[in-house]
Amino acid sequence: MPVNTIIEPFRIKSVEPIRWTTRGQREQLLEAAHYNLFLLPAEDVLIDLLTDSGTGAMSTRQWAAVMEGDESYAGSRSFDHFKSSIQEIFGYKHVIPAHQGRAAERILFGVACKKGDIVPNNTHFDTTRANLEFIGAEAVDLVIEEGKHAASPHPFKGNMDVSALESLIRRVGRERIPLVMITVTNNSGGGQPVSMENVRRVSAVCKRHHIPLYFDACRFAENAWFIKLREGNYENKTPKVIAQEMFRYGDGCTMSAKKDGMANIGGFLCTNDDVLAQQEKNLLILSEGYPTYGGLAGRDLEAIAVGVQEALEEDYLRYRITSTAYLGNHIARHGVPIVQPPGGHAIYLDARAFLPHIPPGQFPGVALACELYLEGGIRSVEIGTLMFAQAAKMDLVRLAIPRRVYTQSHIDYVVEVILEVWNHREKISGMRLSYQAPFLRHFTAHLRPLAATAAAS
Ligand code: F0G
Repeated sequence: MPVNTIIEPFRIKSVEPIRWTTRGQREQLLEAAHYNLFLLPAEDVLIDLLTDSGTGAMSTRQWAAVMEGDESYAGSRSFDHFKSSIQEIFGYKHVIPAHQGRAAERILFGVACKKGDIVPNNTHFDTTRANLEFIGAEAVDLVIEEGKHAASPHPFKGNMDVSALESLIRRVGRERIPLVMITVTNNSGGGQPVSMENVRRVSAVCKRHHIPLYFDACRFAENAWFIKLREGNYENKTPKVIAQEMFRYGDGCTMSAKKDGMANIGGFLCTNDDVLAQQEKNLLILSEGYPTYGGLAGRDLEAIAVGVQEALEEDYLRYRITSTAYLGNHIARHGVPIVQPPGGHAIYLDARAFLPHIPPGQFPGVALACELYLEGGIRSVEIGTLMFAQAAKMDLVRLAIPRRVYTQSHIDYVVEVILEVWNHREKISGMRLSYQAPFLRHFTAHLRPLAATAAAS
């Protein structure tokens, strides 16, 4: 067998048809969706790269476990499976299920943080930031300088700036910082990993100041794989051993099982703190459910118990990270500007560099995402001026790869479509907003291409 050939480490047992549309149909569909890909019916999308969250394919073992789900209200056997599988990897004393990651965040922050507090992170994900701001706390991003530049090739661009963390603690005082968070991998910063060395240093600072360290652990397995590949001394360790070591440097975590939990729904929070765990369970009962199901069905708990283990399998991680890198490296070789190096779960196109004739105020990311749909029925997501308004430092288009869903020929098709769009990039026009909601406007905004507006007037 050629040892350097990497193929999908699974065969397909159940298939779901995807639908071709013509360019003419896509033009009409896009206009009807007000040039907002969130408003497009999913069945009119050929390759859906909107998100890697909850969109993965479950394995035969997970489906078998689903049938074993114990739907008892309290003390279900499925909870024991869930808890012991998670504890084996994460190592924390308390495991509290929740319906997804943001519910876990809301409960952790609701108990641990208050108005006026400050929470540092390498980069907060939108929901993490929003949940902190909702209670009046301030979310501070402290990613290293290299992490802010799309083209910079640093191997661990998700790292936290340790001296910035120390000076923040000195400036505002330890009392105002109830916890520090590290997001692995750093989704908002391009799916970039955090090194073990960085985790160790952040942990040492936290310990010195008696501040608990929590992980936003959504993509912990992908992060472990990058440590194995890129950080000396880890090449002979398994992803599980690496993940176990990483979590030992922290005091707890929040987790969306829709990512490296390999499940379609679910999440959890963990802590070693008995008092906090009790308060979290009290809050959980108010909105999520009893602490042995936390808003999930017993079958969901079973799917996650198996999924977190499968996410750490070497064959799977090798295929996953290679496939994402193949997409990124292939288009980059043709000059397409991407966030370098390719991330774990997604490739991010740099829309400002891709479409330099479109100023940020005319939404180059939206224009590019719409063009990818028109050209080949691919759905992606803008992460830029539409999402963050003036605060957007970059205009990116994220192509997030669902887990175990698309084959190499699908990825080759995505490459072809991107290169086709790259070849006629000067013809793409900017966009203008015709409707926006007062917050989280990207989900519901209506836009129009400026070319169409000019032609009509
Ligand atoms: N933290 C990170 C780093 C995330 O990427 C997400 C979700 C969450 C927390 C929240 O988890 O969706 O289960 O409530 N990210 C998805 C995405 C939505 O498309 O990147 P959730």
